Amino acid sequence: TVLILDFGSQYTQLIARRVRELNVYCEIHPYNKIPKLGDHIKGVVLSGSPFSVHDENAPQIDLTLFRTKMPVLAVCYGAQYMAHTSENGDVRKSDKREYGRANLRSVDSACSLFKNIGVGSQVWMSHGDTIFHLPKNAKVVASTSDVDVAAYSFDDEKTYGIQFHPEVYHSTDGKQLLQNFIVDICGYSQNWTPHNFVEMAVSELIEKLKDDKVLLGLSGGVDSSVAAMLLHKAIGENLYCIFVDNGLLRKNEYEEVLHSYKDMGLNVRGVDAKEKFYDALAGISDPEEKRKAIGRIFIDVFDEAAHQVKDVKWLAQGTIYPDVIESISVNGPSATIKSHHNVGGLPDFMKLKVVEPLRALFKDEVRLVGKDMDVPQEILGRHPFPGPGLAIRILGDITSEKVRILQEVDHIFISNLKSSGEYDNVWQAGAILLPVQSVGVMGDERTYENAVALRAVTSTDGMTADWCHLPYTLLGKISNEIINRVKGINRVVYDISSKPPATIEWE
Ligand code: XMP
Repeated sequence: TVLILDFGSQYTQLIARRVRELNVYCEIHPYNKIPKLGDHIKGVVLSGSPFSVHDENAPQIDLTLFRTKMPVLAVCYGAQYMAHTSENGDVRKSDKREYGRANLRSVDSACSLFKNIGVGSQVWMSHGDTIFHLPKNAKVVASTSDVDVAAYSFDDEKTYGIQFHPEVYHSTDGKQLLQNFIVDICGYSQNWTPHNFVEMAVSELIEKLKDDKVLLGLSGGVDSSVAAMLLHKAIGENLYCIFVDNGLLRKNEYEEVLHSYKDMGLNVRGVDAKEKFYDALAGISDPEEKRKAIGRIFIDVFDEAAHQVKDVKWLAQGTIYPDVIESISVNGPSATIKSHHNVGGLPDFMKLKVVEPLRALFKDEVRLVGKDMDVPQEILGRHPFPGPGLAIRILGDITSEKVRILQEVDHIFISNLKSSGEYDNVWQAGAILLPVQSVGVMGDERTYENAVALRAVTSTDGMTADWCHLPYTLLGKISNEIINRVKGINRVVYDISSKPPATIEWE
């Protein structure tokens, strides 16, 4: 395990993903909660931070825990902190801007960290302080035109500080630098592959679950599907999957996905609960109220289905690594407020022990693991889809007829994205039924019908997003098909808002 200590940088997760891409396992831990060190940890990476080392509440750690005991790579704030806290080191506010693109002006070719990285290599800077004076026993190993100490190392130690961010895409040799550190300097072997993960996870699950029965709610999404497949490999028929039709899925999705699951050999039960959801949603227009109603009915339906399986011991969930990384608060310590449930009042399935076989994986790794187990591409390559489904894409109250209209519109949109080859360039797409009517003309007749909005965005994690610049000809074709084929719609608009300030969904 490579230990990545987080000082709160927005790039810390990227460091971890780059290390994983080298097929080496790593974990992120907050700087103030260092896990027990042992032989499995052969190297440490210190992240950047929004703080300056001179800030009153700047994060502090005891570097003697690691230095001279194992290789250390300190990035940005980490490099400044290490210089600042070492004898003779001096870090000051920079009088030059040190943000964005820069190129290496000199590189110490004898330094193992810079193997195969030469003068001219582009690096990405993002810092306001600079290392003004190097600590005792340290030397410069790389410079840019503006920054003399772009990288430094200590004599007789495998300890390195770098001012730039090797983890970002714009540092063109960043991956090489991380490989030099992780593989050559720390000596990690590159055996964290999807295939090895599957073998390891399956044997751990067998040992943990033995002959116990496990319950899992499938959603049609990537995470729950891959989790199900892993568990199926481990415990076969003892995995009981439940797939609920809430009546808010895409056109034909329930039937198609259920079919795929059966083809995958999963022991899955489909539950048609459409009417229960429509009844609970009747007359509700407020987005949060819709979410609450859907959540409540889902728990009822799932609990009822769960009771049909006797003697279940475990509930499996498709939790992935970004959901469990403990983030450090940059605004000082803040209490994590957890909602405490009244245990007596919980539905029975919630009292089960929880097993989360994907807890260690990033999303892209989940897909690779799924691929290794032959999970069909139509499940792995699928866009994210919100739990409340089309309910939060129908503005205003929900009826089964509105759902049917939106399903037709959405189907035309998504089918065209697929047939034009744009589907995989889009992170998420969907249609929104607007509670707006407008005048149109069809043939010689005046119409007064609803408008729909189309939304397609690019993103990497859903936290920020930009609207997709889909070709006008494609948008034109989609608009024509929708208006000609879907009765009740006479106008199509395209959403060109980014997130922030807008969100991906309209509700
Ligand atoms: P927003 O609209 O907040 O969406 O930009 C970000 C991502 O989250 C999805 N989303 C949801 N997923 N339950 C979910 O499971 C929800 O209530 C929900 N609301 C939004 C949205 O589809 C996008 O991928």
